[in-house]
Order: sequence, then structure tokens, then C-alpha cells
Amino acid sequence: MSCCAVCGSMKATPTIECLNKDTTTMRITCLRLPMCLVLSLVCVSAARAADDEPLPAAATTGGRPLMEVLRDRKSTREYTSAPVSREQLANLLWAGFGVNRPATGQRTAPCTMNLRTIDIYVAATDGVYRYDADGHRLVVISRQDVRVLTGGQDYVKTAPLALLYVADQAKLEKVAEHERAFYSAADAALIAENVYLYCASAGLGCVIHMPGDRAALATALGLRSEQRVVLAHTVGHPAP
Ligand SMILES: Cc1cc2nc3c(=O)[nH]c(=O)nc-3n(C[C@H](O)[C@H](O)[C@H](O)COP(=O)(O)O)c2cc1C
Repeated sequence: MSCCAVCGSMKATPTIECLNKDTTTMRITCLRLPMCLVLSLVCVSAARAADDEPLPAAATTGGRPLMEVLRDRKSTREYTSAPVSREQLANLLWAGFGVNRPATGQRTAPCTMNLRTIDIYVAATDGVYRYDADGHRLVVISRQDVRVLTGGQDYVKTAPLALLYVADQAKLEKVAEHERAFYSAADAALIAENVYLYCASAGLGCVIHMPGDRAALATALGLRSEQRVVLAHTVGHPAP
């Protein structure tokens, strides 16, 4: 809702009545305009908060021994449609590229020049989210199920989740342009291996693959031109 800049009433443009108000009214209305601005900011903040979904704290102790997990790591291409629990999703994302050193904000996977170029997007049955690692929460991107766009094989339709590793190449300005794709691919692959290991540890299945239709995904995710979907990573419960 906009305010008249002259009298502060709830109309978009001033009229002659606005200019006829006495000085007392004008003083009151001087206060109205900033109040409108404050109210608008409160409304915007509330809308943003409504678009964030907190995640349970990641379980950062325990789990299966590393050597056993490496023994079990593999790609899975047949899934049930059973959902991945919120706790497992929180652990999966933290394992992939969560903050493991809060004092510096550094992550569970190494990354080019510590630039944290990759964002993990989550394509789920009920929408698309971006993992905000610093806040360990999901930011709602859309309420569309775009899993079918994430790859060309049938498993993308059955598995409940696809992670999308999106590189913001604007952050790689110090890297020669022809090298940026290599750095982005390396950053994404290191995250992917963490996700593979978490899945093996938790009894989940996953498979890394090229994204299906990068252009359609970029539109569905609302990406800027410098952002590229590098890899997709399907995750779910293995079919028996
Ligand atoms: C960059 C990359 C792209 C891949 N693309 C696909 C793919 O499009 N579809 C698929 O089913 N698997 C894909 N994979 C998974 C590999 O096929 C799989 O890792 C390989 O066959 C070895 O099997 P394992 O992961 O079970 O050891 C890809 C793996 C990598 C690293």
C-alpha cells in the first residue's frame, strides 16, 4: 500500500485537499510517511521469514565408521517414493556443504579460494528450496515439483529428492573465464562425494548425474545468468 507523499493518506498521488491541510495536520502527516515505510519493512521481513523453513540441527556426532561407509558407497537407480525425513535432509545438506567451523563459516567440503561458489537447491515433491548453510535452513524458491526436469532417467520421477549444485560464477571473477567451469565442477563434485558418503551411512540411495534441461531448470529456479546448474544428485530410499 502506498502513501501520498504530501499528506500521508493511503492514496498513491497527492490531491488539492492534501495541500489545504493546516500545519498541525502537516506535522502529523510528516510522521505518517515514515510510519508507512516502517510498516512496509515489517511486512517485507514477515514475508521473508514465512519463506524460510528451519531445519533440525544436524547430528554431527556418531554415524557409521568411515571405512564401512566407503565400502558401501555406490550409485542407486531404483527408488521407492517414500519421503526422506526432515532430520535426514538436514544431515544430508550439512554433510554436503554445511558449516563445520562456525567461527569462520567454513564448510564440510573444500571449495575454490573459500568462495563458496556452490549453492545446493533441493527439488522436492512439494517445491524447490535453497539450502542456506549459514542459517542451516531452507529458503523457499517455488512451490512447484520440478523433479522431472532434473534428469533424463526414470528414477528422477520416483525418488523424492534431487539436489542441484548451482555455481554462481560471478564469485569466480578472479579465475580466468575459460577455467571457471572446471572450478565449478570440482566444487560441486566434492560436495557430491560428501552426500554419497552420508547416504551410504544413513541407508539412503543416491546417484549423481548431469542435469536434464539446464535452461528449463534455470528458469524454474529463478537463476541469474551467471548461475549454472553444474550437477544433479538424486536421493531417496533404495527400492528393495
Ligand atoms: C560426472 C558424472 C556424471 C554422471 N552421470 C550419470 C548419469 O547421467 N546417469 C547415471 O545413471 N549415472 C551417472 N553417473 C554415475 C556413474 O555412472 C557411476 O558413478 C559409475 O557408474 C560408477 O558406479 P558407482 O557410483 O556405483 O561406483 C555419473 C557420475 C559422474 C561422476
